[in-house]
Amino acid sequence: MTILVTGAAGFIGGNFVLDWLAGCDEVVINVDKLTYAGNLDTLKALEGDTRHIFVRADIGDREIISKLLAEYQPRAVLNFAAESHVDRSITGPGEFIQTNVVGTFNLLESVRGYWTELAAEQKAAFRFLHVSTDEVYGTLAADDPAFSETKAFEPNSPYSASKAASDHLVRAWHHTYGLPVLTTNCSNNYGPYHFPEKLIPLVILNALAGKPLPIYGDGQQIRDWLYVKDHCSAIRRVLEAGQVGETYNVGGWNEKANLDVVHTICDLLDELAPIGSRELGVGSEERAVVSQQTGTTPQSLLPTYRSQITYVTDRPGHDRRYAIDARKLERELGWKPAETFESGIRKTVEWYLTNQDWVSNVTSGAYREWLDQQYGK
Ligand code: NAD
Ligand code: DAU
Repeated sequence: MTILVTGAAGFIGGNFVLDWLAGCDEVVINVDKLTYAGNLDTLKALEGDTRHIFVRADIGDREIISKLLAEYQPRAVLNFAAESHVDRSITGPGEFIQTNVVGTFNLLESVRGYWTELAAEQKAAFRFLHVSTDEVYGTLAADDPAFSETKAFEPNSPYSASKAASDHLVRAWHHTYGLPVLTTNCSNNYGPYHFPEKLIPLVILNALAGKPLPIYGDGQQIRDWLYVKDHCSAIRRVLEAGQVGETYNVGGWNEKANLDVVHTICDLLDELAPIGSRELGVGSEERAVVSQQTGTTPQSLLPTYRSQITYVTDRPGHDRRYAIDARKLERELGWKPAETFESGIRKTVEWYLTNQDWVSNVTSGAYREWLDQQYGK
């Protein structure tokens, strides 16, 4: 048995493949274009492992995808490949339309061609699982109910509009051609191998480098955070038992304001990698005197990473709040997240502290160019 997974050199796809092969021996064909966000270092542990076959290709290349499908005869195709960063979609939407809309269309056509020719039994068992986002639903006011699967799509950014378009294509390929599809709409992920253009890894790495921690606008925008391994287990469960043609919301029941997320990271770093007292020019003897005079602990006189927080211009069209109602997935398929935000964010900070090699490999020239463009030199 074989599955074909697209975009698995990226953050979530990479975690998915590592978890998949840790739990079973079913071969994975990993198709990834290796854009700036794709990084084979994430899959280093699989070097020489015959259960993982990597092919560098674009999901929009029908010739290559059709050839791979014919050759490996997968029982499922899981589509993680996408342009995924909202800020990049604002400065350059073209790639988002190309990969997320046109690419998904071409992938669906390649898969439809393959699936149509399968024998009846394989045809019935085949699944196309499309990995999507909660951003397709738009934005919520503070007292609105969380997004359910029946919420109308109201995407607000070029990224979310392109993902919404891809979700509609997937739905239509099921409705019109009978392709056995499943769609998951997930909230914000965080965890190991997260590319440091996104809030959580960016803040961890900027903090350690002594750089500003950029907060867009007032920092009171709310996201629902899910540890990436929980997203992977949800996708496995939907693939295994999801009802064809259905969509499933995936979320962590962890609504947090951005500023609170950044405070949590700073506090964890203060505990795990405190800023040395020499940087402030205040020595331990001086701290002991001051702490006696003020009745505070010497530790509380150490500089904190919170002092690096900097408010910057808001993201245009910034969605105020996302919240996922994941009850359908729990009720129908028995899935629940394993991590709380507190346990997941601690694991994540520890992972970045102990995986500096991965970090230095991804923070290449292209990454630095993006930081200059987005945040100024
Ligand atoms: P990512 O940007 O880290 O990885 C995307 C991967 O897709 C990269 O390896 C890249 O090289 C590859 N890719 C891009 N264009 C391609 C193309 N045309 N052909 C083949 N490969 C291509 O993204 P991610 O955060 O891992 O997100 C994966 C999927 O999950 C996306 O579809 C995204 O919309 C969705 N999603 C992400 C989150 C999140 O919080 N990151 C939440 C919900 C849903
Ligand atoms: O909700 C799911 C989505 O989550 C996924 O579909 C996207 O692929 C993924 O990138 C993520 O989108 P966000 O825009 O929510 O993630 P990001 O990490 O870019 O930003 C999280 C919040 O933090 C958002 O409100 C913007 C804010 N932010 C972000 C950055 C990079 C800042 O305040 N400062 C920053 O420097």
